[in-house]
Amino acid sequence: MNRLAMPRNKLIFAAAIAFAVPLSLSACGSAGTQQGASGDGRPPLEGAKIGGPFELVDKDGKAVRWSDFAGKYRIVYFGYTYCPDVCPTDVQRMSQGLRLYAKDHAALADKIQPIFITVDPQRDTPAKVGEFAAAFSDKLIGLTGTPEQIASAAKTFRVFYSKGETSPGGGYLVDHSSITYLFGPQGEPLATLPTDLGPEAVADELAKWVK
Ligand code: NI
Repeated sequence: MNRLAMPRNKLIFAAAIAFAVPLSLSACGSAGTQQGASGDGRPPLEGAKIGGPFELVDKDGKAVRWSDFAGKYRIVYFGYTYCPDVCPTDVQRMSQGLRLYAKDHAALADKIQPIFITVDPQRDTPAKVGEFAAAFSDKLIGLTGTPEQIASAAKTFRVFYSKGETSPGGGYLVDHSSITYLFGPQGEPLATLPTDLGPEAVADELAKWVK
């Protein structure tokens, strides 16, 4: 990092932390949090009460629990497969960023599990989240569940979502947080991935925290 850039980055970092909670409540159209380097080498989300046990189902309807990923870094994104723009863009950049990272860090990349969790369990069946995830990456796992299971997981991960009005055609949008979280091998929150800045920025952020 350019030493002259440090004070400014520290300010950005402080701002990102100060606004971390309000940003997490923003709607689908907003970008994720942007972070500068912390300067002291500590993960920006260290100690944050984000993430924890859930029980959901994968594309085959098989139960998947947070504890199943013990020992793995995890990238977690909540969204929905009918999302017209933000979710596909975020998931694509996250997947591209992970592939970029894997080019230079193949062994470490194998320790990262990307996970997509729907906030639209009504339409996102196991097969549907499976198809959506497979369209972006063969590593990405898509998860759904009952409305209660999804609500519980979203609360645990500090994710907001709200179903919009149904159109005459039966369609609807879902407002939701669009934050891409990175967790460590014990499930501890580390950082958010800056999908709004593109795949290179995602790969750079992974390189900071995946060891
Ligand atoms: Ni979306």
